[in-house]
Amino acid sequence: MGKVHICDHPLIQHKLTYIRDENTTTKDFRALVDEVATLMVYEITRDLPLQQVQVKTPVTTADCQVISGRMLGLIPILRAGLGMVDGVLKLMPAAKVGHVGLYRDPDTLQPVEYYVKLPTDVLERDLLVIDPMLATGGSANAAIEVLKRRGCSRIKLMCLIAAPEGVASVQKEHPDVDIYVAAVDDHLNDHGYIVPGLGDAGDRLYGTD
Ligand code: URA
Repeated sequence: MGKVHICDHPLIQHKLTYIRDENTTTKDFRALVDEVATLMVYEITRDLPLQQVQVKTPVTTADCQVISGRMLGLIPILRAGLGMVDGVLKLMPAAKVGHVGLYRDPDTLQPVEYYVKLPTDVLERDLLVIDPMLATGGSANAAIEVLKRRGCSRIKLMCLIAAPEGVASVQKEHPDVDIYVAAVDDHLNDHGYIVPGLGDAGDRLYGTD
């Protein structure tokens, strides 16, 4: 089963409090989400492999380390996932970015792909699926499925806030995928909102509420 990593660094938790606050403006909300995404990358990249290199310092030759292994691909789920991309790119500027757009079919309630554009070398990359809110898990599961159907593996999921229902669903559907969150909240309400949550992440990021 995929592990759930709670990114509980005090800076992340402090900023998350203001992200949740309904009085936070769109401008501040966007800036805080961006900052938390950057801070979360620290945790998410903790297991990256290193390789030994030598550099010549002005004084002598030093044995040092650089990140080795596969490059990273970011896969934000449209549209709220976009709000975390720049924050991740600050620390991983060479990452390529693919996009997955999904909507919920009103009759079947199943997620339907309306847009998928992935880096051409996606199969050679470690992938980070990004969506601020892991509610039912429907979108995250569908986005991961989109990637796996194209042969991708080595996928992680990055969210700001998860509901226990969403965590359980991703763990069941995709037991190979680790989940990184700043908080796991109490439950989902009847409208599919995470409680206490932060409201609609897309609306708050783009000022459409
Ligand atoms: N999507 C959101 O933006 N917020 C929720 O609480 C649940 C899903």
